[in-house]
Amino acid sequence: MESPFKANILKGKVALITGGGSGIGFEISTQFGKHGASVAIMGRRKQVVESAAASLQSLGISDSVYLNPSLCFLIETRKAAGFEGDVRKQEDAKRVLESAFKLFGKIDILVNGAAGNFLVSPEALSPNGFRTVLDIDAVGTFTMCHEALPYLKKGGLGQSLSGGGIILNITATLHYTAAWYQINVAAAKAAVDAIGRNLALEWGTDYDIRVNGIAPGPIGGTPGMSKLAPEEINSKAKDFMPLYKLGEKWDIAMAALYLASEAGKYINGTTLVVDGGLWLSRPRH
Ligand code: HXC
Repeated sequence: MESPFKANILKGKVALITGGGSGIGFEISTQFGKHGASVAIMGRRKQVVESAAASLQSLGISDSVYLNPSLCFLIETRKAAGFEGDVRKQEDAKRVLESAFKLFGKIDILVNGAAGNFLVSPEALSPNGFRTVLDIDAVGTFTMCHEALPYLKKGGLGQSLSGGGIILNITATLHYTAAWYQINVAAAKAAVDAIGRNLALEWGTDYDIRVNGIAPGPIGGTPGMSKLAPEEINSKAKDFMPLYKLGEKWDIAMAALYLASEAGKYINGTTLVVDGGLWLSRPRH
């Protein structure tokens, strides 16, 4: 679908997107690139990151590059780059940020899209399984923000003295109420929201960094949807949820563009729910 935004709204900006190689993260990477940003994608799986960089190339983001940790595999130059890395590892966060900075000269936007999940009942979930999702979503988000601060803050590496960067956290709505078989994801996303609000307060005040969240509803064609909403759950939900309909990855990317661009310059510390109103829905009586 065509974007309603001008193609230059992120011109000259550099974005680092964790989990940017697939699903919602990849669509954000693509749309940021199409709207003028240089895009660094960070992901755990080399092949996924590699093919994402190649896809960006074929989608008209002309100059893509894939860099493994030793920077030895180059497709072309500039504009988009893929970096292998796990947000659970502080050294990976540091290395990927440093590499993106070396390549693009600055980092203006951090999108925390990396997430882990699986459906499991609380009694079948081991504490380590609980911790694993918290580690990816919550600790991973904090780690990326923490390591990105020197680049994002007003007057920081590559930044001007007149303004700081932007952080977008991809969160969820399931912790607003409660969700079956997702106690670990719900706890993790609640923590992500808390991290976002606290950084919005502290880093907004001290460093001119805006921090916001986007809470997607069920989005078609994503790993999250296929893992977390098998068809039988889907059709049951449709029966009693009046507002039920699937969103598109594009919907989330447009929200991200809005928040990351100048259009969102006064928005800080909030979460934009992009779910068609689904989380509010109740059976009709
Ligand atoms: C029960 C499980 C499990 C499962 C893993 N574990 N999968 N327990 N059911 N299906 C437990 C393991 O037994 C282990 O605990 C612990 O979790 C760690 O498992 P590992 O396999 O060692 O972890 P790892 O290899 O790091 O894999 C992490 C992962 C993985 C979360 C399990 O599936 C993953 O990273 N997936 C992310 C990809 C993805 O789906 N992305 C889309 C995000 S969409 P023990 O005790 O045995 O050691 C999204 C939307 C959220 O996030 C919002 C929706 C509304």
